[in-house]
Amino acid sequence: MRILMIIGSLRTGSFNRQIAERAMEIIGNRADVSILDYHDIPFMNQDIEYPAPDSIQHVRKDVLDADGIWIFSPEYNYSIPGVLKNLLDWLSRPLVKGDPERRTAMTGKAVTLSGAGGRSGASNARKRLSELLLFMKARQMEGEETSVALTPEEFSSDTVAFSDELLAKLGDQAERFLKFIAE
Ligand SMILES: Cc1cc2nc3c(=O)[nH]c(=O)nc-3n(C[C@H](O)[C@H](O)[C@H](O)COP(=O)(O)O)c2cc1C
Repeated sequence: MRILMIIGSLRTGSFNRQIAERAMEIIGNRADVSILDYHDIPFMNQDIEYPAPDSIQHVRKDVLDADGIWIFSPEYNYSIPGVLKNLLDWLSRPLVKGDPERRTAMTGKAVTLSGAGGRSGASNARKRLSELLLFMKARQMEGEETSVALTPEEFSSDTVAFSDELLAKLGDQAERFLKFIAE
């Protein structure tokens, strides 16, 4: 089983990346897990949409090869960070120009969401991501999402403090997602 993690932040020390990496350890050998590298994709521009640029073909292949996608995202101004929205805009487009079924790399794909941010724990971004993924016809897992409201200490140390509660939540979400993918 393959799980592709998508981080909604390009920041090297990203809290969301730290959490994704911990989730990867928790999943262990129960799945083949990797983190999508999409730092080099262009801004969506319909002038260059077909044929899709090489960088877009690479990310689409990684998404198509995955059985499940786990998104870890911060919240920017109550919403989805622009880099992630841009990636999802590319992934929302038909693989084949003019395809009447409009099949995309995300059609029917199993997805789950988590996020770390300020007081809201990035929950506003996840609400918008849920709407977007529904519109994109992804297959989204229901139930609790791991939501991390970072403390001032975590912000100043740039390090996530993994409490037992957070590790249990990640473990539970991983467990449920592995089952959901297999359904
Ligand atoms: C442009 C911008 C907008 C932000 N807006 C919000 C916000 O609306 N809510 C929030 O909780 N944090 C907000 N933040 C703070 C982020 O939660 C914080 O920078 C976090 O560390 C980003 O996640 P990362 O560590 O995974 O990169 C914002 C940060 C940036 C750069």
